Amino acid sequence: MGRGAGLPSLLLLLLLLLLLPPPGSDAAASAQPPHLVFVLADDLGWNDVGFHGSDIRTPQLDALAAGGVLLDNYYTQPLCTPSRSQLLTGRYQIHTGLQHEIIWPCQPSCVPLDEKLLPQLLKEAGYATHMVGKWHLGMYRKECLPTRRGFDTYFGYLLGSEDYYAHKRCAFINALNVTRCALDFRDGEEVATGYVNLYSTNVFTQRATDLIAAHPPQKPLFLYLALQSVHEPLQVPEEYLKPYDFIQDKKRRHYAGMVSLMDEAVGNVTAALKSHGLWNNTVLIFSTDNGGQTLAGGNNWPLRGRKWSLWEGGIRGVGFVASPLLKRKGVKSGELLHISDWLPTLARLAGVQPRGTKPLDGFDVWETISEGRPSPRVELLHNIDPEFEDFSPCPQDGMTPVRAKSSPPEPSSFNTSIHAAIRHGNWKLLTGFPGCGSWFPPPSTHGVTEIPSSDPLTKTVWLFNITQDPEERHDLSQEHPHVVARLLSRLHFYQQRSVPVFFPDQDPRCDPQATGAWGPWL
Ligand SMILES: *[C@@H]1O[C@H](CO)[C@@H](O)[C@H](O)[C@H]1NC(C)=O
Ligand SMILES: *[C@@H]1O[C@H](CO)[C@@H](O)[C@H](O)[C@H]1NC(C)=O
Ligand SMILES: *[C@@H]1O[C@H](CO)[C@@H](O)[C@H](O)[C@H]1NC(C)=O
Repeated sequence: MGRGAGLPSLLLLLLLLLLLPPPGSDAAASAQPPHLVFVLADDLGWNDVGFHGSDIRTPQLDALAAGGVLLDNYYTQPLCTPSRSQLLTGRYQIHTGLQHEIIWPCQPSCVPLDEKLLPQLLKEAGYATHMVGKWHLGMYRKECLPTRRGFDTYFGYLLGSEDYYAHKRCAFINALNVTRCALDFRDGEEVATGYVNLYSTNVFTQRATDLIAAHPPQKPLFLYLALQSVHEPLQVPEEYLKPYDFIQDKKRRHYAGMVSLMDEAVGNVTAALKSHGLWNNTVLIFSTDNGGQTLAGGNNWPLRGRKWSLWEGGIRGVGFVASPLLKRKGVKSGELLHISDWLPTLARLAGVQPRGTKPLDGFDVWETISEGRPSPRVELLHNIDPEFEDFSPCPQDGMTPVRAKSSPPEPSSFNTSIHAAIRHGNWKLLTGFPGCGSWFPPPSTHGVTEIPSSDPLTKTVWLFNITQDPEERHDLSQEHPHVVARLLSRLHFYQQRSVPVFFPDQDPRCDPQATGAWGPWL
């Protein structure tokens, strides 16, 4: 064989050389992956930050946004659990069973245990993973807790809302016909009783800055800081109200003070990253979890609707990315982005493929954010919830809006009485009852606080060009029946691929009376 065998081996060697990356290209790979700090605000509305022109002052957030990339066409889900589930799974709720409402305190439910979460991925990539703040992804079993789902450490509360000082949550337990108030505060998996009378945002900020101070800069850090601010109850230390004497509306004034305190918190976290030598290799993301709740001081003007609705006011999110690692800074991104995009984006920054997750709905959007490339996302399913009810309907909707089951405007396999919305390019289609559809001017600055919609109660289809009409004032469904038909067929496509809604009855064994604290009961 002698010389005959030499040729194929030589070819093989050449081929191998061609397949190998050129010298120097591994420089990026050997650089340490960036620290990832994700700050999630609760119920912060579109019109509640300085950089959107609010009366509320947010100098820290404004400066970070101005020096980073402002996300102007960025979407969240309209509620807490849904947004948080999509952030940590990278998947739509139609794929996790969480498409209906939130996880209530006594429901035996959590993000399905066979979903691989973002912190698990980052931990596998060598990150230290810490979570501080609100979980709200289920806790009926220990396996559901953040410490069992990829976080090395956890400090915070497991349910959706509570007193900022007492850290207690009151909830009515149907099955027992009692209201129970109990502590919901944990350090790791242990109940933490030592923080009563301390305002949660200060406590969480302190924990975050302690973690940063103790973190070895050569190890990549993932810090998920899910602040209680600025969800109701409207509580804030008196001194934060002083700058807002000019706001007559009491709720709005308190809310404004809460936003200011949160702004200070983000400033403190950023300062800690800088003073401990992490900042130059950090990507900081700031996002709300949903639109503002106008019943509790929040505001989304000029967008329509509010939290708990699929109108833009419920889902178009406040967000920005700040980082010395951005290739372009001081810009506004008009590209379509969604909260489910963070998982693949952060995995990419960590230098790993999102291995072991179920099929993702999110996209890696780092080049869109950092370099201004077009978004890989052209379509966004906002949600399909066949069991939707609005707990806080607008006055003109009555307490329990009953929507006529109407037939679709043209042959379609999607039942337009179902609460759903989808975005494709500039188009947005809404069906069923989307939730309160009023516009809410900021309290105390306009004569009116609510501009009701003139839509008849029986209306079930709306089409908007969101780029031209972000306020959703001009329904174009009559003018563009073909677009309506196309988007209805997309909704049908998604509906066929949905898992059933998982929304179990309350389990009376959730009763916290015996232990004095909400927590796993199974
Ligand atoms: C629930 O409790 C209230 C007050 O204790 C009582 O008036 C009511 O009858 C109870 N309802 C049921 C169904 O037991
Ligand atoms: C920010 O840091 C300052 C100085 O340590 C502290 O007084 C303030 O309470 C902190 N703010 C928050 C919201 O934690
Ligand atoms: C970040 O700062 C540290 C300490 O100041 C320095 O050693 C490191 O090289 C810097 N990294 C980058 C990416 O500039």
